[in-house]
Amino acid sequence: MQNVLVTGGCGFIGSNFVRLVLETLPEARIFNLDKLTYAGNPANLKDVENNPHYRFVNGDICDQVLLERLFAEEKIDTVVHFAAESHVDRSIEGPAEFIQTNILGTFALLETARKFWITSPQPPSPSPRFLHVSTDEVYGSLGDTGLFTETTSYDPRSPYSVSKASSDHLVNAYYHTYGLPILMTNCSNNYGPYHFPEKLIPLIINNARNGKDLPVYGDGKNVRDWLYVVDHCTAILKVLQQGRVGETYNVGGNSEKQNIEVVQTICDILDEKVAPLANDQPRRSLIKFVKDRAGHDRRYAIDASKIKNELGWEPSVTFADGIRTTVDWYLENEEWMNGVLDGSYQDYYARMYDER
Ligand code: NAD
Ligand code: TYD
Repeated sequence: MQNVLVTGGCGFIGSNFVRLVLETLPEARIFNLDKLTYAGNPANLKDVENNPHYRFVNGDICDQVLLERLFAEEKIDTVVHFAAESHVDRSIEGPAEFIQTNILGTFALLETARKFWITSPQPPSPSPRFLHVSTDEVYGSLGDTGLFTETTSYDPRSPYSVSKASSDHLVNAYYHTYGLPILMTNCSNNYGPYHFPEKLIPLIINNARNGKDLPVYGDGKNVRDWLYVVDHCTAILKVLQQGRVGETYNVGGNSEKQNIEVVQTICDILDEKVAPLANDQPRRSLIKFVKDRAGHDRRYAIDASKIKNELGWEPSVTFADGIRTTVDWYLENEEWMNGVLDGSYQDYYARMYDER
């Protein structure tokens, strides 16, 4: 693992991963290819932008000419593929970008890796690795019991999860058909620093802090299995370094919560840490049950025993601790949040919530 192409490194998980690699693997050189969509923010990596082992490349994963130039010039031996359109609500509003980036973009990356690592007369040394970062949402929706394992049948139900499932199938096909050395992780919901405030946790932190309504979809009893983002990044690194080529590893937090519990927890932490609302009401009074998301998956939960048994990875941060750390981070990084809440975010927010 010397010359690492990270795609989508200016997003939430990618930026946390780039930071972790630069901290823990001083030999590695990182090339961060990011198109800087609304979700990509160079400020997420401001602290490392001058690190000599880090280079930012502004570009699209669908651009195969650019990909080939990067592979050739930088002798890429490792790909960690985060770049994606990642928000379910946006996929419902407009699926086209999801098909383009998540499916065709992954295809362009796979084709480039195949060209340089499989059909090339001089494949890179050390042995290359292509790690595809995916989601538990490909498995569909659980009832009250059961967990997703690596052998659970795919049953994606939103345009987002369908696009991720399609990319997973392509990645597996490149292993079985061409011998491309792939690895895959399917992870549950992440939370933590640099999370874009269209997603539940940062949206609720921002609104609750500012005394705005807290939109909870449906009855608030949908369940997600929350994992602190740095734990996800350590899992990815472990799979990259020690995982068996061709294998999928499920990654989860062992931390199932109903959405309403998550929202109430954030309200209580903020009541403790910041000035009370103008009318002295607890922040829970801001909660508004709103129209449900179309096709809203009821429950996700991961069985992460394979990665624990094979690679010794387990989450290190409990939800109780991680959510406090996360709230603190947002309170301490108001400037980051103000930078993110630009006009296009306000338009999105109005579209998404006025209709509800
Ligand atoms: P994000 O939306 O925060 O970041 C995505 C990044 O990809 C952004 O920086 C964006 O600019 C970039 N990007 C988008 N389209 C691109 C393109 N065509 N070319 C180059 N760059 C492009 O997403 P995230 O939450 O950090 O998720 C990263 C990956 O992890 C995704 O593949 C997602 O499916 C997966 N995942 C996310 C979660 C989660 O809870 N957030 C959980 C499991 C898996
Ligand atoms: P989200 O963060 O969008 O992640 P995902 O849909 O990929 O799991 O949403 C997490 C859960 O929170 C999901 O069940 C939808 C719900 N939700 C709300 O209730 N209100 C909100 O404003 C948002 C963004 C999500």
